[in-house]
Amino acid sequence: MQSEAQNSPSLVVGVPRETMTGERRVALTPDVVRKLARTGFRILIEHGAGEGASFLDSMYTDVGAEIVPDATTLYKSSTVVLKVQRPTDDEVKALKPGSYLIAFLQPLVSPDLVVKLSEQRITAMSMDAIPRITRAQSMDALSSMSTVGGYKAVLLAANSLQKFFPLLMTAAGTIRPAKVLVLGAGVAGLQAIATARRLGAVVEAFDTRPVVKEQVQSLGASFVELEVGHEEAQDAGGYAKELSEDHIRREIELIRDHAAKSDVVITTALIPGRPAPLLLPEDTVKGMNPGSVIVDLAAEMGGNCELTVSGETVVRHDVTIIGQLNLPSTMATDASQMYAKNISTLLEHLAPKGQLNLDMEDAITRGIVVTRDGEILHGPTLAWMKGGVA
Ligand code: NAI
Repeated sequence: MQSEAQNSPSLVVGVPRETMTGERRVALTPDVVRKLARTGFRILIEHGAGEGASFLDSMYTDVGAEIVPDATTLYKSSTVVLKVQRPTDDEVKALKPGSYLIAFLQPLVSPDLVVKLSEQRITAMSMDAIPRITRAQSMDALSSMSTVGGYKAVLLAANSLQKFFPLLMTAAGTIRPAKVLVLGAGVAGLQAIATARRLGAVVEAFDTRPVVKEQVQSLGASFVELEVGHEEAQDAGGYAKELSEDHIRREIELIRDHAAKSDVVITTALIPGRPAPLLLPEDTVKGMNPGSVIVDLAAEMGGNCELTVSGETVVRHDVTIIGQLNLPSTMATDASQMYAKNISTLLEHLAPKGQLNLDMEDAITRGIVVTRDGEILHGPTLAWMKGGVA
């Protein structure tokens, strides 16, 4: 007996080569393609799309994908396009009206892109809008990428620090372990703590949400405390809220004292859709020991450190400040594996048995669809169009 997927024409899913400078990730990896092809999807991969992440065309064809020669052919032939980065204007124009796009669209910082996608009549879905609920955990690509970012941040810090991370007892004397302070203990922060601990550093962490204290301690780090009420620190969705001015001032003072005793500070503090909170003003950097290192993971959203230069490494007051962007791209193989797992799980959720079926009553689907059939469904973009902020 034939399955339902075999009876209906296969959904054509296309993966273009990423065009953003420095982007090495790819939206689908061969492992995941094999599974999707078995479910009944027809998968098109642009020639060379996986090369930056060490996945060659032959690895895709071996598992059932078809290689198309260029982006124009890919966009023209695909019903669903899967990407990592948001599309450029040219890519938006290349998308077939009526087709679907899934990528990190960052609609809160690029409402103009949302408008263009609706004008092109694309049904666009944003991977960064996956709700952080249990059912959606396996689709949560932001968490996957933050895991990569938190890990890599520690390696960058270790590489720049002129000291060992672990305690060493040698014939030339005892070397004391490095002291690492992690600010923000969400996904990236917890991974940074775990990685720094594995390298043998003594780790302290601070977060405004007291609920993370236990997780921090279970990783072998100590938790730096500031009295903030639970309701003031986080919203119903579990994300951090912006603090009152008085709390921010007390927080900055507390961090200054701890940063002065640390060799490395890794900052990951974030409130979704808002500029990064300023936790390390210039005075704090001045008070740090010469040779110390700051890695500012929030560089893209303005930075948690006042002296961070987005995308660059600078030395200020004898402290190295690393504001490198897109760390997941520097670990493109595993970052792509994780992303491909997340996006394919979402695709299977949207298209059970290989056929697209958008259920707008479903919390995951409703959360990620920003445009549909020429209509904008993303509230903050609608507010931005009326002259507000996205
Ligand atoms: P998350 O939402 O899981 O964690 C952020 C944490 O910051 C939360 O625990 C929150 O309570 C805390 N926080 C918010 N305001 C704070 C404050 N004033 N003081 C102390 N803690 C505060 O976010 P996630 O996924 O861990 O990402 C963290 C940051 O890392 C984001 O800015 C993200 O964009 C960035 N990132 C950067 C990468 C890069 O390549 N540069 C790669 C991956 C993530």
